[in-house]
Amino acid sequence: MSQPVKNIVLGISGGIAAYKCAELVRRLTERGCKVKVVMTESAKHFITPLTMQAVSSEMVADSLLDPSAEAAMGHIEFAKWADLILVAPASCNILAKMAQGIADDLLTTLLLATPAKVAVAPAMNQLMYAHPATQANIATLRARDIAIWGPGKGEQACGDVGSGRMLEPLELVERCLAPVQAPVLLGKTFTITAGPTREPLDPVRYISNHSSGKMGFALAKAALELGATVNLISGPVSLSAPEGATLFPIETARDMLNSALQLAPQSDVFIGCAAVADYRAATIAEHKIKKQGDEITLTMVKNPDVIAHVAALKENRPYTVGFAAETQDIQQYAKAKLKNKNLDMICANDVSVKGLGFNANDNALSLFWSDDCLNLPTTSKQQLAMQVMHALSKRLN
Ligand code: PMT
Repeated sequence: MSQPVKNIVLGISGGIAAYKCAELVRRLTERGCKVKVVMTESAKHFITPLTMQAVSSEMVADSLLDPSAEAAMGHIEFAKWADLILVAPASCNILAKMAQGIADDLLTTLLLATPAKVAVAPAMNQLMYAHPATQANIATLRARDIAIWGPGKGEQACGDVGSGRMLEPLELVERCLAPVQAPVLLGKTFTITAGPTREPLDPVRYISNHSSGKMGFALAKAALELGATVNLISGPVSLSAPEGATLFPIETARDMLNSALQLAPQSDVFIGCAAVADYRAATIAEHKIKKQGDEITLTMVKNPDVIAHVAALKENRPYTVGFAAETQDIQQYAKAKLKNKNLDMICANDVSVKGLGFNANDNALSLFWSDDCLNLPTTSKQQLAMQVMHALSKRLN
């Protein structure tokens, strides 16, 4: 992890969310940061330089060609002063310029001249955000290790509803101050399964389990934070996919197998965190099964083993990581799964402990390889996911 962020350049581009920047600067300075504000010409239509000067207690910079500003602190010196440059709001125009390396004003010039971490908080109309050109620019920036914070979803200033709202100032403050992780997974593609599968019995009933998807989604978020590209194959859960992950929603084990076999050969790592139903109904009734007597017998047939199929790939086999949900003899059962399914690594959890495992916020894991093991004691699933990724990254590099 690198040094905590102290000196922040806040680059404001033109967008209605610019009005939130006064609050953002106040919250950052309250937390001990020094903030220098740079504004684009269009930003000044939405909030005045005077306001930003008052809240930051610093002159606002807006011109590349201003001799007095250059005399006080040249733009290269300015770019070097920052620990972080945050562009918020980041309009689709500035994202496009950044992706192309255009330097036609002070902010875009600083962005090319800085050795600091750069983050953007996109804010725009939802259709502009969804446009393939904007998405391609964001993908380019992400590949260059620029952090993409947001956007959030919801009602927009223009009346539309969708993705494109700038994250709220307090959330941006938390992200600015979070310890910066080295991008040890940059360039790696992960495919992660999460949540339960749902096996239908008839048009209204199914068999499933208590997996909430929290562990798998936490793994996806941690991999993204460390620079990976992430495909997330998820059964039905009530979580939103982490920003930046590509979500492949599925229902049954067989759906999961189809998605897994498409994505795994293009991935460096496959992680099977989903609780896949081992069996499904032999036949799915066409109509709702009627109540009939005191007992009912269902015939179940075995589902395909998703992770075993991935681990058996003859070409382009990814590094394959399983999970083992156990209630006794954890080590023995986990090691047997590692071997029988031909996995490279397995993460075992004791799902009999109250407050851990299925649908809990915390968990504890024991990681096994054929030649080693590592115990990760109880903590939040998010922290644990980060520890798993660091342990995994040492095996990949
Ligand atoms: O989703 P949460 O509420 O956060 O809970 C997290 C969790 C407890 C579900 C997770 O930590 C976990 O243990 N996931 C694996 C659950 C499981 O199905 O374990 P298993 O021991 O039955 O399966 C072993 C491995 O084979 C797993 O990687 C599983 O994804 C895979 N498998 C199993 C059966 C099958 N038909 N196909 C598979 O790929």
